[in-house]
Amino acid sequence: MTTGIRIDRLCREMKKRGMAAVAMVPGPNFFYFTGLTLHRSERLTLALIRVDGRIAFFLPALERTQTENAPHKRFEVFTYSDSEGPDQALLKLAGKMDLQNRVLGIEFRGMWVGEERALQQAAGGISITPADELFMDLRMIKDDDELTAMRQAIRIAEAALSDTVGEMAAGQTEREIATRLQVALTRHGSDPLPFLPIVVAGPNAASPHALPGDRPIRAGDIVTIDCGASWGGYASDITRNVAVGEITEELEHIHSIVWQANGAGRAAVRPGIPAEDVDAATRAVIEEAGYGAYFTHRTGHGLGLDIHEPPYVVGGNRAPLRAGMTFTIEPGIYLPGLGGVRIEDDVVVTADGTETLTKFPRKLLRIAAS
Ligand code: CO
Ligand code: CO
Repeated sequence: MTTGIRIDRLCREMKKRGMAAVAMVPGPNFFYFTGLTLHRSERLTLALIRVDGRIAFFLPALERTQTENAPHKRFEVFTYSDSEGPDQALLKLAGKMDLQNRVLGIEFRGMWVGEERALQQAAGGISITPADELFMDLRMIKDDDELTAMRQAIRIAEAALSDTVGEMAAGQTEREIATRLQVALTRHGSDPLPFLPIVVAGPNAASPHALPGDRPIRAGDIVTIDCGASWGGYASDITRNVAVGEITEELEHIHSIVWQANGAGRAAVRPGIPAEDVDAATRAVIEEAGYGAYFTHRTGHGLGLDIHEPPYVVGGNRAPLRAGMTFTIEPGIYLPGLGGVRIEDDVVVTADGTETLTKFPRKLLRIAAS
């Protein structure tokens, strides 16, 4: 979908919601609607889109050439030098875009307070309202080009995961394996990583978001590896588990339960059902096995330009799934002091069901203890 069509849709939605304009800072929304990836820094940088489709970029003079890459050909540019600072140029922007006394949508979850205050000061009487939901409503349904980028981000992550698991050996530290994985992700073509790989083993794996540490992996550990790549702006996110030598029966058992739960979740996905039904499907398997108290997080999160975005696959989210939505299915069981298991896949809702985009084998991977 061209950014022109995206802007048309955005303007229709702004009109419905009574917004005269929206402002965006560099990041996923900025990229989605303008096609530009600009630098986020202390130098105020904004894109403004008015309900009538007028587009303005506000940026430091040194970034001006960046707008030459914009797919839109009709837009205005307001710049300021380092010595001038942004204030005068911002007044000019507010005047030319006729922002005074209007309703302006901004990213409550993306804009800094200082940026919001600068806008308030430049455009007298302006009324600020959140635009996050409006942006996400449009971004939530992925088109074929977006899915192609996500598939590529997944291929990169899977190739890097395969290389890294192939080189894993007892005695390597979590941090060492995570570093190899980062290098492999980059070597296979990832843009800047959407998040740093999580490689956690043994007791450290009992926390879903633990950080890699300096403990060497050893016999009896399950190593949880959670990583993702970025390609064309879009992220992937996959988790697999590796046993080092012999592990306890209970760890073998929780892996097989989580594997079943992951399958049940993916099988439940189809358009029209509430997102929370997918959460209920994975949770039922884990509760049935008696480990409900040890599945301490939601089943999944939307995936796209952001690594965590709507739709959230969580109890209480009654919003129906729609074709083109992409999200993770990542049930887990975490046993304090012993270890944890999580199996995470990326799926897309299709016209009549689902397609699992991640193809990496879900079975417990195994390496020798010595
Ligand atoms: Co993950
Ligand atoms: Co995830």
